[in-house]
Amino acid sequence: MIETEGLTRRFGNITAVDELSLRVGRGEVFGFLGPNGAGKTTTVRMLCCLISSSGGRARIGDYEIDAPKDRQEIRRTVGLLTENVGLYEELSAYDNLDFYGRLYRLTEAQRKERIEYFLRMLELWEKKDLSVVTFSKGMKQKLAIARALIHDPQVLFLDEPTANLDPEASKTVRDFILELKKENRTIFLNTHMLDEAERVCDRVGILKTKLIAVGTPDEFRRTLSERKIEIQLESVNDAVLAAVKRVGPKSVESSGNKLLVGVGDPERENPGIIEAISEAGGRIQFVTEVGSTLEDLYLKLVKG
Ligand SMILES: Nc1ncnc2c1ncn2[C@@H]1O[C@H](COP(=O)(O)OP(=O)(O)OP(=O)(O)O)[C@@H](O)[C@H]1O
Ligand SMILES: [Mg+2]
Repeated sequence: MIETEGLTRRFGNITAVDELSLRVGRGEVFGFLGPNGAGKTTTVRMLCCLISSSGGRARIGDYEIDAPKDRQEIRRTVGLLTENVGLYEELSAYDNLDFYGRLYRLTEAQRKERIEYFLRMLELWEKKDLSVVTFSKGMKQKLAIARALIHDPQVLFLDEPTANLDPEASKTVRDFILELKKENRTIFLNTHMLDEAERVCDRVGILKTKLIAVGTPDEFRRTLSERKIEIQLESVNDAVLAAVKRVGPKSVESSGNKLLVGVGDPERENPGIIEAISEAGGRIQFVTEVGSTLEDLYLKLVKG
């Protein structure tokens, strides 16, 4: 559904996106990860025909992004949630969506049906008549997503949709993304959060001007040779610490009543570590895996 080949964008003498080649299938949720300034937003802006490319090519379905005759079709096919949400603060939630629906020349019946559908789905229906100026950040973000979907696009680009949202609002947005996937829409999600990508994405690409890696979240996890386990005890003492070290994990750090243990294969190594702690008189309260952060993964991939 999305296909790029050597897609490049330069701004003056800096290259923001360098020779990006990528395929995203219909109905796929693709996560685009990368540090600040990696070129994620620039890529999305090229794919939505908001800026032109400096080289290479890209297609959305059967349409070429740099063919002037295809731009109109691409705009109809894609929906975009940008970093600045683009809502009219003085209008109500309903009227914002109605306005954008008109821009896309939807009929009155279509607008009514879709606005109600999305506002209910995003739990904003009760607030439909309030002006957006009274909305919290999370409510605005949800409304902005509805706005990006009002013309029923097949491909949805979401540029950091959960940035600045509280956990509950983030979850609503993630659940919504999964609903959209069920409708067989293609979703391209820019994010900094690996855990978010893991929860919703079928595949993930890591960009730092160039595409460094692409794979499923599982494949990425497997490339990390070390995973971190946090063990919380009633208290940590030297005997417990020494016992854990004797089992031979890759690393052990202690802080307060917690141990952070780096292991290669937790399913195999954890039981031994836990036994050793008990035998040394340690009383375990919690054992949790600490999610691998984008940073861990990213540094690993760049170094490796
Ligand atoms: N209009 C522009 N003019 C000049 N440079 C630009 C422009 N837009 C982006 N850039 C540069 O291109 C690079 C990539 O920026 P981009 O916004 O695509 O990164 P990003 O991956 O979205 O980062 P973030 O995670 O911070 O949103 C940066 O070095 C940025 O300064
Ligand atoms: Mg960005």
